[in-house]
Amino acid sequence: MTNQTMSLAEIITSRRTIHDFIKGQVPDKSVIKEALEMSCWAPNHHLTEPWHFYLLEKETINGICELNKDVLTESKGSDVAEKKTKRWMGIPGWLVVTCEKSNDELLYQENYAACCCVIQNLMLALWAKGIGTKWSTGPITREDRFYDLIWVNPDLENVVGLIWYGYPADIPQTLRKPLQQVLTELP
Ligand SMILES: Cc1cc2nc3c(=O)[nH]c(=O)nc-3n(C[C@H](O)[C@H](O)[C@H](O)COP(=O)(O)O)c2cc1C
Repeated sequence: MTNQTMSLAEIITSRRTIHDFIKGQVPDKSVIKEALEMSCWAPNHHLTEPWHFYLLEKETINGICELNKDVLTESKGSDVAEKKTKRWMGIPGWLVVTCEKSNDELLYQENYAACCCVIQNLMLALWAKGIGTKWSTGPITREDRFYDLIWVNPDLENVVGLIWYGYPADIPQTLRKPLQQVLTELP
């Protein structure tokens, strides 16, 4: 089955979180931008369109990898830090999705939900083109220095996810509970 022939059901059910990408194969930026444009058709209450995308290039990626190395060296030692940094440097594509903050708790909850929808749209749009993604919310994405590196004011925006993307070197398998375990039919 080629990507061109995948139905919506096949795209949704075959998409997996990709942990290993083919090194050196960076998807075309125009493809990413097209998928981002499509992903913005996500539902969003009051049409707040609360998302913002940060498409990262070498300088910022290197900064994040260095930051992660520093944090890991302190918490887990230099061997672990070196290994992880090498792995991170090999990830082809980096994108951050943020959500507009609000003091109104309900509004923020709904905005966050809309950002999650936008990310799922994005992951599916990319998967349909053979591009895999990993939505990461690791501790680094909550560091003040991470916000500095992406030039985001943490008082105004919240990082919803660091999205790694690229062509999959391996597609893992995951399972879902049978529907009857998560479905209650009411009279
Ligand atoms: C909000 C959110 C945060 C996630 N953060 C991480 C993460 O930090 N690290 C990771 O390996 N996967 C992360 N994932 C991916 C999930 O682990 C993954 O979706 C789950 O294992 C199911 O696998 P699948 O996406 O292949 O179906 C995250 C997913 C979501 C929705």
